[in-house]
Amino acid sequence: MSEIKTIAVLTSGGDAPGMNAATRAVVRTALAKGMKVKGILKGYNGLLNEEIIDMDASSVSDTIDRGGTLLYTARCLEFIDPEYQKKGAEVCRKHGIEGLVVIGGDGSFKGAQKLSALGINTIGVPGTIDLDIACTEYTIGFDTAINTAMQAIDKIRDTSTSHERCSIIEVMGRNAGHIALWCGIANGAEDILLPGKYDFNEEAIINKIIENKKRGKKHYIIVNAEGIGHSTSMAKRIEEATGIETRATILGHMQRGGSPTCKDRVYASMMGAYAVDLLADGKSNRVVAYTNGKFVDYDIDEALAMTKDVDQEMYEVSKLLCR
Ligand code: ADP
Ligand code: F6P
Repeated sequence: MSEIKTIAVLTSGGDAPGMNAATRAVVRTALAKGMKVKGILKGYNGLLNEEIIDMDASSVSDTIDRGGTLLYTARCLEFIDPEYQKKGAEVCRKHGIEGLVVIGGDGSFKGAQKLSALGINTIGVPGTIDLDIACTEYTIGFDTAINTAMQAIDKIRDTSTSHERCSIIEVMGRNAGHIALWCGIANGAEDILLPGKYDFNEEAIINKIIENKKRGKKHYIIVNAEGIGHSTSMAKRIEEATGIETRATILGHMQRGGSPTCKDRVYASMMGAYAVDLLADGKSNRVVAYTNGKFVDYDIDEALAMTKDVDQEMYEVSKLLCR
């Protein structure tokens, strides 16, 4: 039995497929350890507004296969203000919440860090389709999102080939290029445009499209990261310069939905259970991560100070394969 009697769980920031599996694991692991569990609805907004529900084993029945988050999520700008953070900690105390699991991205972890400093034992679980949390090689929802995007791009490729067109497909990822790089490789793209230091040359792309057409290529797929954006105007310029019909498709929020993959269900379950183990051990200000084949945890301050880029080996291989 744990020292901590009552914990709560919330989801924050953009939703991600697998968040329900993590919530389910938090609830059921905590119950198995004799703790009471509460669900905080709509992220930090729900904490400030005291939208708090009691959860039992059946609260999370039939949710492991569902996309989205049963606890709802929100972005709560007020929570950046220390006054609201104090209010959040007071609400936790009022409801007897001694430990809190925050499922979300880096922004959500900053909120968790503040609550921890205010005396609420808090653990972060990485949930974002963007894979942009530096301390971990896995984030909940990335696997589902890349599979969803890959299938969508396969379909666009069919019609692109039939019409002998060029297609620019914009994928999500905020300022990170992980989704673009994975899909670019998986979909056999002719070009992958990544944000950050990965500069690209539109003139070189245009020349390559013309050369490829001469070689008899029937389509030209460009996977463009959201961090670069401007796919529609880029398509217009490419069409004008090459004379080849060019269409832009922004995949958008469909990448965030859908039933989670097996990997997202299992890894999210492992991370949710791990977070409760940390709380039961009296830990706080930690974030659960997956590194070198193992589930581990880091201090949130250290985790937030880390940086990461797309996998360099994958990037180099993609350069050889894009033709
Ligand atoms: P993600 O968690 O996916 O990175 P956001 O960056 O939108 O998403 O952050 C989610 C929420 O986390 C914000 O709406 C806010 O409530 C909280 N948050 C973000 N930054 C901070 C901060 N510096 N201090 C406290 N809370 C924060
Ligand atoms: O962080 C997840 C994400 O889907 C990003 O890829 C994207 O930039 C952002 O959230 C979109 O946010 P919103 O749903 O608020 O439009």
